[in-house]
Amino acid sequence: MRVLSGIQPSGKLHIGNFFGAMRQHLQFQDEHECFYFIADYHALTSNPVPDEIAGHSLDVVMDYLALGLDTEKTVFWRQSDVPEVTELTWLLSCVTPMGLLQRCTSYKDKVAQGLSPNHGLFAYPVLQAADILLYNSHLVPVGADQKQHIEVTRDIAQRFNHTYGDVFTVPAEHIIESVAVVPGIDGRKMSKSYGNTIGIFEPENAVRKKIMKIVTDSVPVDEPKNPDTCNVFALLKLVAPAEELGEWENRYRRGGLGYGEAKKRLAELTIEYFQPYRQRRTELENDLDEVKKVLADGAERARAVAAQTLEKARRAVGLRR
Ligand code: TRP
Repeated sequence: MRVLSGIQPSGKLHIGNFFGAMRQHLQFQDEHECFYFIADYHALTSNPVPDEIAGHSLDVVMDYLALGLDTEKTVFWRQSDVPEVTELTWLLSCVTPMGLLQRCTSYKDKVAQGLSPNHGLFAYPVLQAADILLYNSHLVPVGADQKQHIEVTRDIAQRFNHTYGDVFTVPAEHIIESVAVVPGIDGRKMSKSYGNTIGIFEPENAVRKKIMKIVTDSVPVDEPKNPDTCNVFALLKLVAPAEELGEWENRYRRGGLGYGEAKKRLAELTIEYFQPYRQRRTELENDLDEVKKVLADGAERARAVAAQTLEKARRAVGLRR
């Protein structure tokens, strides 16, 4: 099966990104043929700072490579290096009913959050459909917030096939069973927009400092504590070995545990968890030419597939005969 996913170029990734999606992307490499790309055209829909976009894309690429994305197995590229996707977006736009896009909640949410209601933002799901259909993807692992966009993709693919003949593979959606939402240091979902993140490759001291600041309740040391509602425990679950986690759970319930102690151990475990990948991350940072070579190679491999699908679609609609 071919698995495809797009990753927002949001700069250096945090442990919420890792346990939310990245870990699963990396695991899929052993089971499927994976196509992953940095969605930099999509990023433009929210008017980012021009000086930052390219650097943010490279940061995400370096994080993925350091953590084990294997370009022998996986095709990994930057969306804008294969501009065929924008032409397919146009062909798809011409079979996409306005009503289908008007029903998309993510557009409305983003406008409600203050993003400018530009046409790119409105047409975002058509570009996403083009990403998926251009590469004949079967599975698209996404979080629950993207489910509607996959439904839109399926709808557009079916309309196109119905009108012009079978050109596109209609993908199944694959929702990543959320590994319990990863809380940030303030207890809300870890997210760059909340400024509550712990970076995967932040300096160790910064990681320690942030973890010591995690919000907890004020149950006194002696009293029993509830691990299920504790932000520190939620993060321990992700990085502690099963046996050790069991001990922490007992100690929470028994009482006599101070949160400071749990936080210190959490900091150690978090640093250890990503330690094996730190050196590789630094090597990549010091060899941007290598990173750019990886992207150029990925673009070439992606384009080989993209060009074929696009040609089929051009013929189907009658632009070529
Ligand atoms: N919209 C996705 C997100 O916000 C990113 C994305 C762009 C994507 N194109 C895609 C995901 C194609 C899956 C398939 O996370």
